[in-house]
Amino acid sequence: MRTKLQLLLFALLVVCLLVDVSAKQRRRNSKYHRRTTTTEASVQDEVMNMLEADEIAEEAAEDAEVTVEDGRNEVGSKRQSLLRMDPCMHKHCGAGRVCKTIDDETAECVCVEICDEEVDPRRKVCTNHNETFGSDCEVYQARCFCDTGDDRCRGPNYQHVHIEYYGECRQMPECREEDMADFPRRMRDWLFNIMRDLADRQELPSHYLKMQREAETNHTLRWTNAAIWKWCDLDGHPHDRAVSRHELFPIKAPLMALEHCIAPFLDFCDMNNDHKITLIEWGKCLQLDEEDLDDKCDELAEAKNSDQ
Ligand SMILES: *[C@@H]1O[C@H](CO)[C@@H](O)[C@H](O)[C@H]1NC(C)=O
Ligand SMILES: *[C@@H]1O[C@H](CO)[C@@H](O)[C@H](O)[C@H]1NC(C)=O
Repeated sequence: MRTKLQLLLFALLVVCLLVDVSAKQRRRNSKYHRRTTTTEASVQDEVMNMLEADEIAEEAAEDAEVTVEDGRNEVGSKRQSLLRMDPCMHKHCGAGRVCKTIDDETAECVCVEICDEEVDPRRKVCTNHNETFGSDCEVYQARCFCDTGDDRCRGPNYQHVHIEYYGECRQMPECREEDMADFPRRMRDWLFNIMRDLADRQELPSHYLKMQREAETNHTLRWTNAAIWKWCDLDGHPHDRAVSRHELFPIKAPLMALEHCIAPFLDFCDMNNDHKITLIEWGKCLQLDEEDLDDKCDELAEAKNSDQ
């Protein structure tokens, strides 16, 4: 459910953005190539884990000035009780890995051997090394090779390779001041519209529905509720009342190729530069009134648990 939601959200963000961007571009009479992006929702959590592992590794390296012994993620290597019939049936393998049956009772997660070839350039991805990969699968695969000590590991750099954004690597146009000035408003609008769309499709978790209804009826809450919802939603890996760089992945990666102001905007949100965005910071960069922002995440999480 959660991953499905995230995928939908990606799609919606992109759609909202395309509408907004194309309207804007038409006004400017300039050419703009539309791009849409998709991602495998099923790998979303693994992506989070990878990014988290990277972050931990980076921080450790910064703090201690020692090389990190091992920042790799253990997703997929967890041994679980296996079904007798098909030991792969209930085995979950992380991104870039597939389940392989060893014998009747044993299954193992191994690196994907061959990634499907993607012809659509929009399925290509740009990594943190500014290197275009054919697909997200290839990035996870490259990483898996290094994690497992496979000969095909392309070098130590690839142990922490991750997707920076969807689409081919390119020169990011500079985010002009006037675009940036208008960005918070656009971002607020997207958030509100996405929340509304999810509600219309009955895909908004019930504990957020009340907020959505409030946003529709009470003008003061129109943007604040959407902002709170998104922030709580992003702050899930881990849930610590701060949205870290890797937790921004679900909004950043799909939007980067479309919207060159997203990265500077999100950097700007992290006002004290501690790599975390608090709700206060989030509200400020969206130009919302601090007083209207209520940290309701816990309340919402409780409501969610009682729903189930
Ligand atoms: C990344 O690669 C693209 C395409 O090769 C290039 O145009 C761009 O300048 C590079 N960006 C950086 C930051 O090196
Ligand atoms: C709108 O919400 C604000 C904040 O919760 C509240 O103070 C205000 O009374 C509400 N206005 C209406 C018309 O319900």
